[in-house]
Amino acid sequence: MANPLNLREYEALARERMTGASFDYYAGGAEDEITVADNEAAWRRLRLHPRVLVDVSNVDCGTSVLGTPVAMPVLTAPCALNMLAHADGERGVARAANESGIIQVLSAASSVSMEDVAAAAPAGVRWFQLYCSRDRDVTRDLVERAEAAGYTAICLTVDVPILGRRERDIRSGFHAPPSIRLANFAPYAADALPAVAGQSGLAAYVSERWDSSLDWNSVAWLRSITSLPIVAKGVLTGADALRAAESGCAAVIVSNHGGRQLDSCVTSCDALSSVVDAVGGRSEVLVDGGIRRGTDVIKALALGARAVLIGRPYLWALAADGEAGVRRALALLQSEIVMAMMLCGRVAVSEIDRALLG
Ligand code: FNR
Ligand code: LAC
Repeated sequence: MANPLNLREYEALARERMTGASFDYYAGGAEDEITVADNEAAWRRLRLHPRVLVDVSNVDCGTSVLGTPVAMPVLTAPCALNMLAHADGERGVARAANESGIIQVLSAASSVSMEDVAAAAPAGVRWFQLYCSRDRDVTRDLVERAEAAGYTAICLTVDVPILGRRERDIRSGFHAPPSIRLANFAPYAADALPAVAGQSGLAAYVSERWDSSLDWNSVAWLRSITSLPIVAKGVLTGADALRAAESGCAAVIVSNHGGRQLDSCVTSCDALSSVVDAVGGRSEVLVDGGIRRGTDVIKALALGARAVLIGRPYLWALAADGEAGVRRALALLQSEIVMAMMLCGRVAVSEIDRALLG
């Protein structure tokens, strides 16, 4: 399968190319992985109600996200340790995202530092995803570095007060080889993910270093130290989304972290419309989890999302063929989006409305 025809087909290539433990870290989720499976299944359940005899000879899938024009309503989700997939790592994703005209959301837990990622694709637009260290000076420094390196939003992940119980990682004793580090944390001497007997090295790291006391006051604090827009990632209820908007978040990302945190929680697809309704236009609403097809993207937009993020699909493509793989996977997704729009009788993203879901 040298030439995958769709995003799902990259997974098999990645499985061949990655070590078992790294593949399992990417693929896996919490406990019984009910939510991992549910996320994809939820999009698959929705049915489209297309309009016909619309002139679709000119379809434009471009839109904007927080004011940034993008070629399609897709961002690359923040995913830790991209170098486990390929030596191109987050640099390759940065270049591919830039060439594809979309925004890269860089993980705080990236294996290339945020400064080096920015230098790899200086023209690209990037957001920095933040994990808050127990040491607020470290968090403040990360935010200041992101501003200085030209990141245009801070994406605060709010669903990791503790790392979910990922049994694949406990079984494998998941850790990173010494050459692959949490590069953003190097200045604070906290960049190694060592093996811990009988545990996930990542879970041990997170419980030791990251702040489980985060609350709405922390959002206010973050608001006070940066003028960048704040995006709250990992919201699943209308009540929290509204609170986020009222706390000054410019956007929320409806997400269950790809099923890696609370197993058997609601799917992002099923949570989306109640968030959209609760927020009522006060902030932008994005969504991720299980998006694998152009039709999934269209369904998310029909439910009121401004854009979607993809996680594992770009990791698989990166593992398969580095930067070129990510570029090709994004091109496949874009052509699926355009085709879905043509077949739905929608020539612009702004025409994708709830009526499309019947
Ligand atoms: C993630 N995700 C994640 N989220 C985040 O805010 N910070 C992070 O560092 C990571 N790291 C991470 C690593 C890996 C290997 C995966 C698969 C995911 C969650 C990610 O941003 C996103 O919410 C999900 O991946 C979306 O689901 P799909 O597209 O993978 O189904
Ligand atoms: C993960 C973390 C790092 O999902 O967000 O693995």
